[in-house]
Amino acid sequence: MFNKQKRISRSKLPEWTALSAHQKKLGDLQIKTLFEKDHARFDKYHLHHEHIMLDYSKQPITPETIEKLMALAKACNLESWREKMFTGQIINTTEGRAVLHTALRTPDDTPIIVEGENIIPHVRTSLARMKKFCDKLRKEKKFTHIVNIGIGGSDLAPSMAYEALKHYSDRDIHVHFVSNMDGTNLAETLRLVDPKKTLFIVTSKTFTTQETMTNAHSARTWLREQLGTEDVSDHFVAASLNIAATKEFGIDEDHVFPIWDWVGGRFSLWSTIGLSFCIAIGFGNFQALLDGAHSMDQHFLNAPMEENMPILMAMIGVWHRNFMDLPALSITPYDQYLWRFVNYIQQLDMESNGKAVNRKDQPVTYKTGPIILGDIGTNAQHAYFQILHQGSTIVPSDFILTAKTHNPIGAHHKMLISNAVAQSKALMEGQKSDDPHRHFDGNRPSNTIILDELTPYALGSLLALYEHKIFVQGIIWDINSFDQCGVELGKTLAKQIINDFDKDDTCPQTDSSTHGILNHIKSM
Ligand code: F6P
Repeated sequence: MFNKQKRISRSKLPEWTALSAHQKKLGDLQIKTLFEKDHARFDKYHLHHEHIMLDYSKQPITPETIEKLMALAKACNLESWREKMFTGQIINTTEGRAVLHTALRTPDDTPIIVEGENIIPHVRTSLARMKKFCDKLRKEKKFTHIVNIGIGGSDLAPSMAYEALKHYSDRDIHVHFVSNMDGTNLAETLRLVDPKKTLFIVTSKTFTTQETMTNAHSARTWLREQLGTEDVSDHFVAASLNIAATKEFGIDEDHVFPIWDWVGGRFSLWSTIGLSFCIAIGFGNFQALLDGAHSMDQHFLNAPMEENMPILMAMIGVWHRNFMDLPALSITPYDQYLWRFVNYIQQLDMESNGKAVNRKDQPVTYKTGPIILGDIGTNAQHAYFQILHQGSTIVPSDFILTAKTHNPIGAHHKMLISNAVAQSKALMEGQKSDDPHRHFDGNRPSNTIILDELTPYALGSLLALYEHKIFVQGIIWDINSFDQCGVELGKTLAKQIINDFDKDDTCPQTDSSTHGILNHIKSM
């Protein structure tokens, strides 16, 4: 079990106070000036790992900042926590679970023991079953429409990856995603599919999530009506931990793909939750995605701290959040295929680090996870970038670019890249003007991450990069990044409210706003 040793608050660590003093000393440090003073700044502040390059030169940091940030990481025992995660120790202490999404992508057969059992053979068996199932479906084309029903990680993961890797997908297999409780999501999806040729994949770790189960039941009712038969079990598949509930729903045992409690919902892309997009892109490409993630795992485990991409990105984020008091992070992928990427990262980051109680069950005395916002470039430029350039709050940015496009049309890609680079330059340099409305302060930090090409392998590495960055920040902030107690209260209240919904006078004892809203809707 996790050793609840006494730890002093992070903000009382000498390494933390040294960073505060360093920040004060730097004062009004201008990133632009750092470039003017050092023409080789880019050479010193960029990193490669295989197909990914990280340029962090446009950050308000000096060698001393990096040194001090790494000293803080060491003081927070980052290396030992990393070891605990990879070896399956119970680091999700509130739920009493190991955190082993990395085991889903390891080619290494070294046993990882969870509750006395080696999990690696289970991972291998599960991948072999996924492969067999995908190969058969892709060959037979008995089903040409796949409808994934899930929510949260059980939707964002497969839908993001399906969109990101569409270039590699079999265009005769159409994958749809239904997540929302709003019946419109299901209704509009069902308009697009041929019932005879549709396979529903119900992805839910718990198989109790209200939205998913409501959608799954309604989809089954629709299919029964359409096919004129009660037995539609051939058209349903599940990815779940709750085998009993899948059975109760009527899903055949050989159509149930397991997931384990040591895989968190928002880290489940690498598991059977990825079945829908695995069918679309083929198992070989799914395996390449796992391999790319594994390669980033190895980099995270083995690269020295100062050259370690996830650690550097994480510690720069800590610098922004805790020492510059910046509340948000904008992520802009300049690749149309990554149009769901920010939604995915929002859950990954904010459900993990949106917490204010530390591992000693005490309120934290410092800021934790940032608000993540973003959209694809160049659309984001025409939407919220105004606030990045001239807003009263500084919002750091991650720009994600792909050097080669899958769709070279005329000068599009050159123009796209030029826009991305222009944005980070404008944010950093600003522009002096006598007209205050046309003046740009500049000095707004950014990272630029460049993938050689958006391949399954590179996407795997990119996603693992963000996973580990978020893990590192959770360690620095001394919070449990792997539970999600914050989403429970709303769910419980929704259940109470639905019970009262059909009563004549809705919840008269509740607050007047809740009462008023419900009565107004019911009067329509
Ligand atoms: O929103 C809470 C949450 O538990 C997420 O962490 C998870 O991704 C989502 O609900 C879906 O859960 P399940 O896969 O159990 O349906």
